[in-house]
Amino acid sequence: MGSAGSLGGARPKASVRDEHGNLTIAKFTADDDTMPIERAEVAALKLARVVGVHAAAARIELGDTGRPVALVDRFDRAAGDRVHYLSAQSFIGAEPATGAYYTDIADALRAHALDPRAQLTELFRRVLFTILVSNNDDHLKNHGLLHAGEGLWVLSPAFDINPQPHRRRHLETGISEISGNAASIEAAVEAAPFFDIERDAAVAMLSGMVSAIDDKWRTCCRAAGMTPAEIEMYEPAFDHDESRIARSMTRER
Ligand SMILES: Nc1ncnc2c1ncn2[C@@H]1O[C@H](COP(=O)(O)OP(=O)(O)OP(=O)(O)O)[C@@H](O)[C@H]1O
Ligand SMILES: [Mg+2]
Repeated sequence: MGSAGSLGGARPKASVRDEHGNLTIAKFTADDDTMPIERAEVAALKLARVVGVHAAAARIELGDTGRPVALVDRFDRAAGDRVHYLSAQSFIGAEPATGAYYTDIADALRAHALDPRAQLTELFRRVLFTILVSNNDDHLKNHGLLHAGEGLWVLSPAFDINPQPHRRRHLETGISEISGNAASIEAAVEAAPFFDIERDAAVAMLSGMVSAIDDKWRTCCRAAGMTPAEIEMYEPAFDHDESRIARSMTRER
């Protein structure tokens, strides 16, 4: 495999070329991992694409030791050249200690995005997805922006999405000042106007996402190589109080 880079983040990683010569980020299983984290991340990125979130393409390969490695296509290259990337934290000028809300990212997109409306909708979809798959690693450095020219930005493909079956339901980036860090579907729908989305449109979006997730999460986990026992272990990440609320809101439509 190719050269290691300074990619930051908590897990062992390297920048490698795949068999087609494309640059990818390889994320390795850590020695103390007891959960199939790499496989779950690849499954979540696939599921994200299935439900209409623009997410990085990823796959599992087996490393030299036989352990799974997640290979994620790099999105900060175009025809070999570097595309300027900013974390959401830098984009909104947030202090790491105080954090910020998704509505702050929305405000910055409104001011600096190419096609703000489309970007606000994409951001809102990611908020819903984060809650529905129990991703609680959604800190401001796990959202990013790519330069689209002339000082305008677009959201990078979504990355580092980690379903967590056994953790407290809590967002690293809160939806808005009103709901704080609660991972709440009701709070997300109430906040839709801050993303320039009407409530009915938000519920329609939610409806499509929750039924696609119900249909496809197991298939995505299986495709990423998870065993039946591992898939059952992850069920609470995909079927929980908030997904039940989402289903009941969409039935009331
Ligand atoms: N597909 C990609 N293309 C380009 N840059 C990427 C890609 N995926 C991740 N990065 C960059 O590398 C950094 C680390 O990657 P990632 O967040 O996936 O790793 P991590 O170790 O799981 O991070 P964390 O500390 O959030 O758990 C990201 O913050 C981002 O800046
Ligand atoms: Mg990260």
